[in-house]
Amino acid sequence: MAGSASVVTLAVRDLAVQFGGVAALGGVSFEVSPGTITSVIGPNGAGKTTAFNAITGYLRPARGEITWDGAPLTGLRPSAIARRGVVRTFQKTSVFPSLSVADNVTIGLHLRATAGFLDVVLGRRRIRDEERRLAADAEAIIAFVGLAHRRREIASALPYGEQRLVELAVALAAHPRLLLLDEPGAGMTSGEKDVVSELIRKIRGRGITVLLVEHDMRMVMGISDIVIVLNHGRVIAEGAPADIRTHPDVIRAYLGTTGDRA
Ligand SMILES: Nc1ncnc2c1ncn2[C@@H]1O[C@H](COP(=O)(O)OP(=O)(O)O)[C@@H](O)[C@H]1O
Ligand SMILES: [Mg+2]
Repeated sequence: MAGSASVVTLAVRDLAVQFGGVAALGGVSFEVSPGTITSVIGPNGAGKTTAFNAITGYLRPARGEITWDGAPLTGLRPSAIARRGVVRTFQKTSVFPSLSVADNVTIGLHLRATAGFLDVVLGRRRIRDEERRLAADAEAIIAFVGLAHRRREIASALPYGEQRLVELAVALAAHPRLLLLDEPGAGMTSGEKDVVSELIRKIRGRGITVLLVEHDMRMVMGISDIVIVLNHGRVIAEGAPADIRTHPDVIRAYLGTTGDRA
């Protein structure tokens, strides 16, 4: 890759994950540069979600090292990794369905706020200030994802595409520096995917680095700075969207799949 001066944010080195006899990842290495939208693509079962799970501490790799800002993430719990600014969404929605949009985001903010212990130490005045600050923060995030008009509505009452935006808002409430999105466009109409694409660009514009797993090739090729292709637990290609689109190994990998999804 050009630009030797570019600083690495996330480095994955020789990552291997084993499920019984199955090597879900067989020694994967890649880097994510700050301020980019980097996508991981590959046929079903290639190991994309497994890579996300290993990076965010949801499973322990058999081998390999993951570093973030030069410090190892490997071995840390998901909550500790999130506190370092590495935050993910899940392939399925992770929103509290019976709560309002605003409450979902406020809970997300509380999870990283210092409340609780401070209640005792700082007194009621300080708590009120903290509550006001969280409420303002929640408002800003909800507006950022374009749901200001939905803030008081119950999450499960929203159309599916907007529920996924709530999920994004909850992830943003954790104040990520690296945001990992697992199939944010899944189940969406193409119009909704355009909205999410634009939002992901806006997130990058805020200085948040994005690592994306997404099946929709139009979306991936439209918004990614770098695309990493996995197949059978290995990196088979990496580069700019234009190069990946025409890469013979990538074309072969996709043609070789029996599934209907790319
Ligand atoms: N919890 C698990 N137990 C056993 N095998 C798993 C588990 N999770 C994933 N796998 C297997 O690991 C491989 C990679 O899966 P996954 O990372 O979900 O692929 P992708 O997200 O690229 O579709 C697949 O062969 C899958 O069946
Ligand atoms: Mg997956």
